[in-house]
Amino acid sequence: MPPPKDFSAPNPNRSVASDPKDRLIVALDFPGGADALSLVDRLDGVCRWFKIGLELYLAAGEALVDELRSRGFSIFLDLKFHDIPNTVAAAVRSARRLGTQMLTVHAAGGRAMLQAAVEGAGQEANSPIVLAVTVLTSLDQNELEASGVFATPAEQAARLAGMAIDCGVGGLVCSAEEVANLRGMVGSHPLLVTPGIRPAGAAIGDQMRVATPGAAIAAGASYLVVGRPITRAAAPAQAAQAILDEMSAASETGR
Ligand code: C5P
Repeated sequence: MPPPKDFSAPNPNRSVASDPKDRLIVALDFPGGADALSLVDRLDGVCRWFKIGLELYLAAGEALVDELRSRGFSIFLDLKFHDIPNTVAAAVRSARRLGTQMLTVHAAGGRAMLQAAVEGAGQEANSPIVLAVTVLTSLDQNELEASGVFATPAEQAARLAGMAIDCGVGGLVCSAEEVANLRGMVGSHPLLVTPGIRPAGAAIGDQMRVATPGAAIAAGASYLVVGRPITRAAAPAQAAQAILDEMSAASETGR
């Protein structure tokens, strides 16, 4: 097993950019590559990061990753691996060949699985950052209890976060509601990536633990993941720009 990564010193690969364009990740939740690329075209010049999840990866796979990479975009591969350690290590090694900047595993997979994922990612400068998903933002306390977890989402996220950071992951996926607490727990270097972002007045959909872009940045999020508020907007570039403006304002206030 590799030694846990040292978060006591800033790692240039993990330092968070000050330009909000480098902190906004658009979730390309589309059934095919053509739809995804059409949105990417509409966001040209506004967004630099895209997230490819299960739906799109299974439909468009490596070719789409290559296309986005050739256009210079940064990519978050969100396949949320959760399996036995050997299988996850092998999956991460395969994913590494794709050249994406980040990928996800479920923290609930346990210590050995998390360490195997970190080992599979390697320690090179271009190794993908392994992010551990704590508690899905679609889960509330009732859902946790139904699965046998008798803790609040915040308590469970903190427990999983501590374990995952101990195992050497580079960051966590958590809801904005937990960011401030987790930031206090893990210090300034691990990335905290927050989905469940909804500008004021936006439809919440299936998310449970949501926050506005400004609130998430103010709480200490490194990156925001935004899907439907941009991808389903009548004018996606304008919707993205409004989110970027809100992120800028929140970072200015936080300085
Ligand atoms: O459309 P919306 O903004 O809700 O999209 C959120 C994105 O973030 C989706 O792609 C979803 O898979 C992802 N995600 C999430 N909750 C997590 C981890 C990832 O919503 N805990």
